[in-house]
Amino acid sequence: MSDSKVLLTGATGFLGRHIIASLTERNAKVVALVRRRSEWNRQDWTAPYPTVDLIEGGITGSEGWTGDRRLLGTTGIIHTAAIVRHSRRSPEDIYETNVEGTLRMVRLAAKLGARLVFVSTAGTVACFRSPAQRADEDADYVDRVVRDWPYYDSKVKAERAARALATQLGVQLTIIRPPILLGPGDHRFRSTSYVLKFLRKKFPFVIEGGMSFIDVRDAAPAIVAALDHPAARPVYHLDGENVTVPEFFELCRQVSGVAAPARVMPYGTAHALAKTVESAAHLLGKHSPLPDPVVIEMGSHYWGIKSRYSGPELGYQPRPGRQTLADTVAWLRANHPALQGKGV
Ligand SMILES: NC(=O)c1ccc[n+]([C@@H]2O[C@H](COP(=O)([O-])OP(=O)(O)OC[C@H]3O[C@@H](n4cnc5c(N)ncnc54)[C@H](OP(=O)(O)O)[C@@H]3O)[C@@H](O)[C@H]2O)c1
Repeated sequence: MSDSKVLLTGATGFLGRHIIASLTERNAKVVALVRRRSEWNRQDWTAPYPTVDLIEGGITGSEGWTGDRRLLGTTGIIHTAAIVRHSRRSPEDIYETNVEGTLRMVRLAAKLGARLVFVSTAGTVACFRSPAQRADEDADYVDRVVRDWPYYDSKVKAERAARALATQLGVQLTIIRPPILLGPGDHRFRSTSYVLKFLRKKFPFVIEGGMSFIDVRDAAPAIVAALDHPAARPVYHLDGENVTVPEFFELCRQVSGVAAPARVMPYGTAHALAKTVESAAHLLGKHSPLPDPVVIEMGSHYWGIKSRYSGPELGYQPRPGRQTLADTVAWLRANHPALQGKGV
């Protein structure tokens, strides 16, 4: 990719960090959109990338940065910036960033004559009531299932609107749908927060349901490959480990030695409890110690995803989930302040 110049949004995030590593390995010129240069400079993981060109700006608010001359010659945009928050409270910024921000990137791609790879989520199509179901790249949206969960709802709306606008403006758009990303290097401790909470024994109970996860180190090169593929498809899924929630915590136990939460609580009880505690905490201006009711609702579903194309066309090869979890645990133990010297 030595002839490529790639604009990356969300460069300071978990996935962005690994995409920078993949792009750099392929000798692409990287222009990173960062909201605060100081935040980039503060992070020690950015030190090995002195050649990354930084443009300060956001995908919401002023679009002045889109006229920066350093964007001239951009061949591709990888758009990962988003707000990932699972709550129904005050969702306006989620829609503004995830939907309107994505449409701005489609318009920018049209202006620059660049291809666009938009990282969405498996949850736009893969959210079921049964553990046996799997969504491939041709699956329909599950818009009615996810409409009360602003993050997933915003991603469905973003995919639909981006596809329509890209068609209208003649932009070559590829949408990538990964499930939960785990692995080392989650310097915000957000994507790996379930594993972190598990290690800190902060799960008072588990519920029956499912989860799907992959390794960020496998996702990043596949996303870069989609940008580089001469005839990339409109959609690629990145599939990996589809497990039940109790199976996930059992895997966590095996790789960490920390006991799994013993109590499996019925969904109705867990949801009612989470709702009551969240409302009370909200009135007091505090955070609930329990998962948000949206997280309980999500957790009671199954997120089975499969792919027909990402292996043969993007060279995507997911490593075993156990390895991802072991490496996630090791990284969190080495890097999270609450785990230092605690022997957990
Ligand atoms: N992590 C997962 O499990 C997962 C699973 C499926 C799909 N995805 C998708 O993958 C993408 C990346 O996720 P992630 O885990 O890397 O998220 P993350 O670590 O939370 O990073 C989010 C990134 O978006 C940037 N951002 C947020 N609002 C912005 C705005 N208005 N303008 C410019 N930048 C903005 C953040 O910049 P600041 O540093 O300035 O805040 C940060 O760089 C997202 O689109 C997400 O929906 C993630």
